[in-house]
Amino acid sequence: MHREIAKGIYYVGVDDHHTELFENLWRIPFGVSYNSYLIIDEKIAIVETVKGPWADEWLDNIREIVDPAKIDYIILNHMEPDHTSALPDIAKIAPNATLIYTPRASDMRKSFYDVDLKEHTVEDLEELSLGTKTLKFVHVPFVHWPETMATWVVEDRVLLSCDAFGAFGALNGKHFDDEANMELVERESRRYVSAIITSYFKFVQNALKKVKDLGLDIKIIAPSHGIIYRKNPMWVVNKYDEWSSPELEKNCTIVFGTMYGYTTRLAMKLKKELLELGVEVKVHNVSYSEMSRIITDTVRTGIIVIGSPTYDAFPFPKIWAYVNELQGKRFAPRPIGLFGTFGWGGGGVKKLQKTIEEMKCEVLEPVIRVRGRPSEEETELVKDLAKEIASRLQ
Ligand code: FEO
Repeated sequence: MHREIAKGIYYVGVDDHHTELFENLWRIPFGVSYNSYLIIDEKIAIVETVKGPWADEWLDNIREIVDPAKIDYIILNHMEPDHTSALPDIAKIAPNATLIYTPRASDMRKSFYDVDLKEHTVEDLEELSLGTKTLKFVHVPFVHWPETMATWVVEDRVLLSCDAFGAFGALNGKHFDDEANMELVERESRRYVSAIITSYFKFVQNALKKVKDLGLDIKIIAPSHGIIYRKNPMWVVNKYDEWSSPELEKNCTIVFGTMYGYTTRLAMKLKKELLELGVEVKVHNVSYSEMSRIITDTVRTGIIVIGSPTYDAFPFPKIWAYVNELQGKRFAPRPIGLFGTFGWGGGGVKKLQKTIEEMKCEVLEPVIRVRGRPSEEETELVKDLAKEIASRLQ
């Protein structure tokens, strides 16, 4: 199935309804699309391939429009295999095609794929004429990998934006923002950018500034995952700007683990106290909230409170995994509250505190450590922590 998105520019991507975990990490209950764009002019270009197992479907989509053997340029905005692992398939069919990518992509491509095609590396803002259409390549490093670029189709004012402005969710024939369920798109787009690109938010901000500075009069944004924006392309630009902003929100998110409910008691008590103080609060139990949802809700929250029982003298494993994400995804420093329970020696909260301090985050007082069930005195400490959180968020 293909779809013309502008004169001579066709969507030829595929829906993935099969993969349960994107990057083998993040749940994608609504699937995902691997978007690829065919540009027909005096020269023929394909922008992005698809994930390998979908190569045949993708090639069939291209064949609905043109014989893939006639492709002159294979433009790879990004080397991650969700967009490139069908490269060996097209390389066999279009042996005269030239690969186009950034200089940093060249070694990556050779390390991933042994294909016998010519390559041409493009500098930032370099142009390539296809005849009546001009492609301009805009380097956007670290959105998502260091070699990433976007392709601007000058005459049609179409930005093929790669991972930037992407979203989880298969398209199911609704390719455009005026056809899709935008509530779902907003949720899945924010979850996508938070789970996949959080480590590189400052590069997203750089890329947004660069696009604005270039003064591109964008008519259509066509990313490499998710819907294409033709009705209101600035909607997703503004949303990405907001979601990647370093400014934290004036709210609090409690992330806790529990085995037998004692840590839950503390979490619920804290939530109640915060609500009574007028604090906007979200809560995630790590055993039931999928990690990408927790990351999405905490990446910009003003204060994170982490609660954990001690497990084998360490924090609850799923809490430890969450803290690992805070580090790996380079969460902006902010005050962090800690509470937890233990049966005998403890150790979970102490190890959390050491790690949080190493991340240069302030640990809020009081840190609450409870043996067994919370006493009245310890319950009072929860009130003190809630007051401290409320005062910090004013
Ligand atoms: Fe969709 Fe970074 O690849």
